[in-house]
Parts: sequence; C-alpha cells; structure tokens
Amino acid sequence: MNRVIAIYPGSFDPPTNGHLDLIQRGAKIFDELVVAILRNPEKTALFTVEERLEMLRECTGQWKNVHAEAFDGLLVDFARNRGAQAVLRGIRAVSDYEYELQMAWMNRKLDSSLETVFMMPAADYSYLSSRLVREIASLGGALAGFIPPLVETRLRARLGVKLNSRK
Ligand code: PNS
Repeated sequence: MNRVIAIYPGSFDPPTNGHLDLIQRGAKIFDELVVAILRNPEKTALFTVEERLEMLRECTGQWKNVHAEAFDGLLVDFARNRGAQAVLRGIRAVSDYEYELQMAWMNRKLDSSLETVFMMPAADYSYLSSRLVREIASLGGALAGFIPPLVETRLRARLGVKLNSRK
C-alpha cells in the first residue's frame, strides 16, 4: 500500500492555534505528516529551533501520525530524504496566495514529483500569524485562543511580560 507522507514546513516562531488547526487537518488526510522547522541563520527568531521543536512536539503528541523535525537546505531535498510526496501549506487569505504560489511553482520546478497541497485553517484563525502573536505578547495583550497555553507560558517568560487577564 502506498503511504502518503507530507511535509508541513515553516518557521513556527512560535506555533499558533492556526498551525495546529492545519496540522489536525493534514493528519486526517495524510498517512504521515512531518512538521518541519527551517533552521534559518538569516532570520533572527524569538525561540531557538530546539525550543520550537519542543513546543511543537508537546502540542502535537495526540496525533500519532505527526512528528516534528528541523531541517536546513532546500525543502525539496528534505522532502525527498523523508520519502514525502507532498508539501502542506496553509492559505489564510488572498494576500498569502502570491507568496505561496511562487514557492509552490519554484518547488515544482526543483522537483516535479513533489505536490504542494494548500489547506485553509478555520475562519477564526484567518487573521492569525506568529508575527502578530509576538507583537501582542510584547505589548502585554491578551492571547487567549491564539496559542496553546504552554506556548503562552513560554512566550510570556521569554518576553518578561506579566500575564494579562483580559480575554
Ligand atoms: O513559515 P514560513 O517562514 O513562511 O516558511 C517558509 C519556508 C520554511 C516554507 C520556506 O522558506 C522554505 O521552504 N525554505 C527552505 C529553503 C528552500 O527550499 N527555498 C526555496 C523555496 S521555493
């Protein structure tokens, strides 16, 4: 039987409920889903790759066909090494589309056997991003519903901001 393996790549700095929503959807349609954090020396991140891996592993433990890994180099090479047939990416709004389409075309050019599959998160997460989460956290705003509690605890600790009880 042909097992379909997909890679869900990204920065995940930090993982949000939007990411988890997509992981849950991906876990339903793929036999195996590898959540892959890019080791990107060009981008300054709030959390180290190891911290992000730990958070993702804790948040995705309930899905037995999901695991998290870090990768560097080209996504298509990582996908080939893992025997993956697909790349999963989320599209929240039209504004995501151009960037995502460009990446998908380029990845297809680099490896025509790899398919990019786009999925939409729940509408509630259509305006959610890691960047906005970092910004709201740094300004002491309420994050309930945007990120898992374990991510919130680590985010507040990292930023040294008091927990805001506003909902
Ligand atoms: O969450 P992000 O930051 O939008 O994810 C971007 C990511 C990691 C998917 C993309 O930068 C990537 O795949 N980088 C790996 C290097 C690579 O393969 N570059 C060519 C992509 S067309």
